[in-house]
Amino acid sequence: MAAPVTGGAARTRVAILISGRGSNMTALIEAARDPAYPAEIALVLSNRPDAGGLATAASAGIATRVVDHRPFKGDREAHERAIDTLLVEAGIERVCLAGYMRLLTPFLTARWHGRMLNIHPSLLPAFPGLHTHERALETGVRIHGCTVHLVTELMDEGPILGQAAVPVLAGDTPDRLAARVLRQEHLLYPAALARHLRGEHAAPLASPDALLAV
Ligand code: GRF
Repeated sequence: MAAPVTGGAARTRVAILISGRGSNMTALIEAARDPAYPAEIALVLSNRPDAGGLATAASAGIATRVVDHRPFKGDREAHERAIDTLLVEAGIERVCLAGYMRLLTPFLTARWHGRMLNIHPSLLPAFPGLHTHERALETGVRIHGCTVHLVTELMDEGPILGQAAVPVLAGDTPDRLAARVLRQEHLLYPAALARHLRGEHAAPLASPDALLAV
């Protein structure tokens, strides 16, 4: 199901799954304000009732839902079935994970195979998992960055849709590096989602302080 917009173009109905502040969510919402953007953000869903991004989404006029994982008492698939029901009810066609801090089971990854994207704060396949900026500094890499990829059964794996690289600078702390990467995440995610929805092939894009390739 795709909602018609002014001018007759169909936009893909996208849900964003968050667990926290939702700055990548905000970047996607901002991009989708452009009627020419190929996605409409139709739903923001969180597993945490206290996720800061929920208020941001609501103030942007976007429907929000919470499916708290705690009452499911460790039954991750049952939690995901509840989420999936809401996604289907809302006519969602693509799901963007944006700081969604739950490991997914094969149920949800299979249900949304090829239709679920994630953003990860490293140049995958380097540094899957948590604490990527600390690990980048400890390892001594000179180039770090972020990746948008399709979600598969394995955590932080799956076909890469785009990456943005940033330099690691002298004197970097994990927080400084994270902030530099996050600025690129906010450019990369909307661009990678748009290219994915338009079925366009990857092409490198230059930006003044980073290589953004989607
Ligand atoms: C981002 O760094 C994202 O790459 C990672 O979690 C963080 C979420 O930040 N998956 P935000 O909630 O989008 O601000």
